[in-house]
Amino acid sequence: SSRLPEGYSIRPLRRSDYNGGFLPTLKVLTTVGDISEEAFTTRYDFMATRNDTYYILVVCDENNIVVGTGAVVVERKFIHHLGMVGHIEDIAVAKNQQGKKLGLRIIQALDYVAEKVGCYKSILDCSEANEGFYVKCGFKRAGLEMAHYY
Ligand code: ACO
Repeated sequence: SSRLPEGYSIRPLRRSDYNGGFLPTLKVLTTVGDISEEAFTTRYDFMATRNDTYYILVVCDENNIVVGTGAVVVERKFIHHLGMVGHIEDIAVAKNQQGKKLGLRIIQALDYVAEKVGCYKSILDCSEANEGFYVKCGFKRAGLEMAHYY
């Protein structure tokens, strides 16, 4: 089936999601840090003024707590006839909610957005440990990631 579990929902991130599971969910991915409500709102508002570029989705459980999230950032290029590329970023499902296909549903929804807005591909970086998950989502290995940390 291509549905969420009964009572679950998927929707764009909201300004009010400072409370209710979004930041705790991201902590399964990496360091989040202590983010004040003001700092969260400032970053949210920056992204909201660029809502043709930042698409952040959340999955809520039956109690409307955020238990999953993911983003696609739409990059505009000159190459490929002014092509657009979707960058899939920050996919996270709360530890006790993993294995219910929530990650798959998030990727499917982000893929839908990217294709719908006109991206010719979506790409992402992941660890070897997550390769199997993304293969099940329809991705294939292409290139390698390099990073320069500052
Ligand atoms: N390796 C191989 N297969 C996997 C893995 C894995 N690590 N994780 C899930 N799968 C499989 C599942 O078994 C399932 O297969 P099935 O259809 O045959 O049953 C399929 O992939 C879909 O799995 P979901 O239930 O949708 O996965 P889940 O909801 O648990 O989400 C995720 C997967 C997002 C990787 C989750 O485990 C998580 O949040 N991990 C910690 C944070 C993280 O690593 N995020 C990804 C970083 S990369 C990035 O953000 C671009």
